[in-house]
Amino acid sequence: MTFYQSTVADDLCAVNQLILDNLKSDVALVGNVGNYIIDAGGKRLRPILVLLSALANNYKGKNHLKVAAVIEFIHTATLLHDDVVDLSQLRRGRQTANAVWGNAPSVLVGDFLYSRAFQMLVDIADMDVMGTMADATNVISEGEVQQLANAGNADLEEQTYLEVIYRKTAKLFEAGCECGAIIADGDRAAMANYGKYLGMAFQIADDVLDLKGDVEVTGKNIGDDLAEGKMTLPVIYARDNADIESQKLLREAFKLKSSEKFDQVLEIVTNSGGLEYSQKKAQENSNLAKKSIQSLKDSDQKEVLLALADFAITRNA
Ligand code: IPE
Ligand code: IPE
Ligand code: MG
Ligand code: MG
Ligand code: MG
Repeated sequence: MTFYQSTVADDLCAVNQLILDNLKSDVALVGNVGNYIIDAGGKRLRPILVLLSALANNYKGKNHLKVAAVIEFIHTATLLHDDVVDLSQLRRGRQTANAVWGNAPSVLVGDFLYSRAFQMLVDIADMDVMGTMADATNVISEGEVQQLANAGNADLEEQTYLEVIYRKTAKLFEAGCECGAIIADGDRAAMANYGKYLGMAFQIADDVLDLKGDVEVTGKNIGDDLAEGKMTLPVIYARDNADIESQKLLREAFKLKSSEKFDQVLEIVTNSGGLEYSQKKAQENSNLAKKSIQSLKDSDQKEVLLALADFAITRNA
């Protein structure tokens, strides 16, 4: 178990049970696909953030467990859909659901998970939590569409990239942390900001890992972003700072939407300082995450939240 899992071990166990209970369906294929991806594990980072956020704000009830299960359902639905869109073959160290069953079951079971999450939210019956999760789910889909609309766009600006990653990733981190504060009647703005910056740092790190991660550790293939023509921060920096010849190669490689030139792309990105630049940007967001919860009263959970800000940018999985 990792440090962030062990601090909430009992609650996390209860959340995993809630997840399994709510995966049940009379339609066998729903359970098969759902269990396949849920069983594969994953870090459970978003549910853990909900738990920590509630507990760091002195929450004494039980609804944090349900909200945590809801956010993992929403996250898992985005993964099922994302792997279809990204044509990805590996997730959590296993073949993706789309590789095993095809695109249609992945999309449809993703829909099941989204809609089950909203049934669970109705059960929790907190309009602020429901509104926050509904907004986040809507914004994630906008982010994925915005990214798709820019696939093969070799002119993608850093600003647009930052908008995309805020929508597709940071928004759910923000929502999870905010919901923890909502149910605990704690500092919503502080927790939302923490989640937002943590999510930005987390996705920048993910984009670096797509270039130089170890497939055995991440459980995902490298080069998926290039294969889809998705320019990420390290590449955007290299496109604007490498020598003219290399800039041209990068543009062409991304227009192709193929991982054929992966080795050359990685070499250019590395030599031009694109990885260091991205690490620096991730670090800035991590610092902002920490700063956001400065005023939170000291607690074990706050310590873990601060440590997670470091983990988001040093992680290799
Ligand atoms: C993957 O998220 C999707 C991104 C936003 C990068 P995680 O890296 O949290 O995936 P799991 O849940 O641990 O598999
Ligand atoms: C995260 O982006 C997308 C989601 C919000 C699901 P990626 O497409 O980079 O995520 P991975 O690398 O496939 O996990
Ligand atoms: Mg993907
Ligand atoms: Mg994607
Ligand atoms: Mg990725």
